[in-house]
Amino acid sequence: MKIGIIGGSGLDNPDILENPRDFEADTPYGKPNSTLRQGTIKGRDVVLLARHGRGHTCPPTFVNYRGNILALKAAGCTHILATTAVGSLKAEIKRGDLVVLDQFIDFTRLRPLTFHERFEPHCPVHTPMADPFDQGLRERLIAACAKFGYSHHPTGTVVTIEGPRFSTRAESNMFRQWGADVINMSIATEAILAAEAGIPYAAVAMSTDYDCWKTDEPPVTWEDILHIFKQNAEKVTGVLIEVIAGMEASKA
Ligand code: ADE
Repeated sequence: MKIGIIGGSGLDNPDILENPRDFEADTPYGKPNSTLRQGTIKGRDVVLLARHGRGHTCPPTFVNYRGNILALKAAGCTHILATTAVGSLKAEIKRGDLVVLDQFIDFTRLRPLTFHERFEPHCPVHTPMADPFDQGLRERLIAACAKFGYSHHPTGTVVTIEGPRFSTRAESNMFRQWGADVINMSIATEAILAAEAGIPYAAVAMSTDYDCWKTDEPPVTWEDILHIFKQNAEKVTGVLIEVIAGMEASKA
């Protein structure tokens, strides 16, 4: 068992690995967005990847999601845990709350979102996506949030938008009517590709803002997101460490 961690905004470069070693990876889809950092957490093998690059240089549309997933797979990762900042579309999901996502709505338009650009003759591949996040990993994430007493939501539908711009008020209200709980710019694409690659994947989201649907406060800015995420980042890293510590250790 080896766990891949994809660090999102605010967790581009977390210092959570023991015996870290950086290495470059390459895939048929090109290089992943960051060097991979291999190491251990409580004796478990872990590989860390920064979704937007270590210096957060890559906008969401241009992230090499396929390269990132395949690089983790080639590094031997059997499971992937992802982190992401999200905007809240519900009053009860407050800033700093953690959400263990269970559904997504894909509102992206411009990015490659499949490994299957061509089917073999008479062999179409249509990956089931009814429950896109791995239930076993989700249960571990929920248990860790509960153990630490963090304010968290055991389910949540994320709508993933193209970005990098934020939504208009009309869009934000539409997403609320659609039943989305939170909003971000990356998770649907990653979950789709992980499912296609056959890697169990789950994401813990940190609510950082109320997007722009709330009329009693100013619309979200990037600075707000980073500020709240940095203030609460140790919650996310603590949950990841707890989950990984509870997973089966690799056979030597
Ligand atoms: N990530 C964090 N907050 C967001 C928002 N309001 N919209 C899209 N992505 C986000």
